[in-house]
Amino acid sequence: MNKVFITRKIPETAIKMLRQRYSVRLNKENRKLTKKEIIKGAKNVDAILSLLTDKIDKEVMDASKNLRVVANYAVGYDNIDIGEATKRGIIVTNTPGILTETTADLAWALLFATARRIVEGDKYIREGKFKGWGPMLLPGYDIYGKVLGIIGAGRIGTAVALRSKGFNMKVLYYDKKKNNILEKKLGAKKVTLNRLIRESDFISLHTPLNKETFHLIGRKEIVSMKKTAVFINTSRGAVIDEKALAEALKKRSIAAAGLDVYEKEPSVTGKLLKLNNVVLLPHIGSASYETREKMAVMSAQSIIDVFRGKTPENVVPYQVEKVAF
Ligand code: GLV
Ligand code: GLV
Repeated sequence: MNKVFITRKIPETAIKMLRQRYSVRLNKENRKLTKKEIIKGAKNVDAILSLLTDKIDKEVMDASKNLRVVANYAVGYDNIDIGEATKRGIIVTNTPGILTETTADLAWALLFATARRIVEGDKYIREGKFKGWGPMLLPGYDIYGKVLGIIGAGRIGTAVALRSKGFNMKVLYYDKKKNNILEKKLGAKKVTLNRLIRESDFISLHTPLNKETFHLIGRKEIVSMKKTAVFINTSRGAVIDEKALAEALKKRSIAAAGLDVYEKEPSVTGKLLKLNNVVLLPHIGSASYETREKMAVMSAQSIIDVFRGKTPENVVPYQVEKVAF
């Protein structure tokens, strides 16, 4: 019987789907496994259902000669050595599409919270500081009619941009590819990264993390942003130089930031924790009940497909190009 290793408890439906068919090894503790534990768990299995916090590299792949598929419970797959997997003929899948709208909602939640100082306001009340309405009590930035810059106009970036319609925003985007949907529906403009950074009031990051995008937004880019710019990141922390961002926020060379992801999760650059002009979330972009359930089912289905000799729909793009099934 095929053996499947699930590195952490995910919604029950998916565990059942796999248990009905295969022998399942499941991490029953509600915590991330250590590298050692992952290697141990991966021993002689045919499939791994992994999380974005599990590093699936050569060492883990060495634990099982039989490994045929790694189904990542995430749209991002920077935690997996895709080159190594491809070399070994191991199929890697992710969960694209189904979490797009949920993540786009969260990007907007961060945008609102950051621009209108929602978290500061809540804290203000709880600390007993509210003594009545004041003309300059917690002023923030208007969203309506402003310029929204989308870096990475893929599925999520597109969904974030489309939501701006109700706010009559001008949309700029930076991507290798032209985005016809955004151009048609919003009159969005494809621009250089430099121009996007200089002209946007709100900048939202939606690229995957890979060699090309590591620190794509570095010190130079951050200092080119408007003094009133609000920066939002719901993609991956390492696409931006987090230290440089913290310094810019501290010096107020940009206005504010809303972050759901960090360079070295779960640790967060200490300086950020002391600043009021940043809203920090614990990587919950896709965390809705509905979406987490769909992600679990999609990951389980990918494993079932591979064992049935069918190519899953959601094989990661690099592999689609490199591997002939
Ligand atoms: C979450 O960050 C994901 O990649 O699904
Ligand atoms: C990920 O889903 C993306 O393409 O933005």
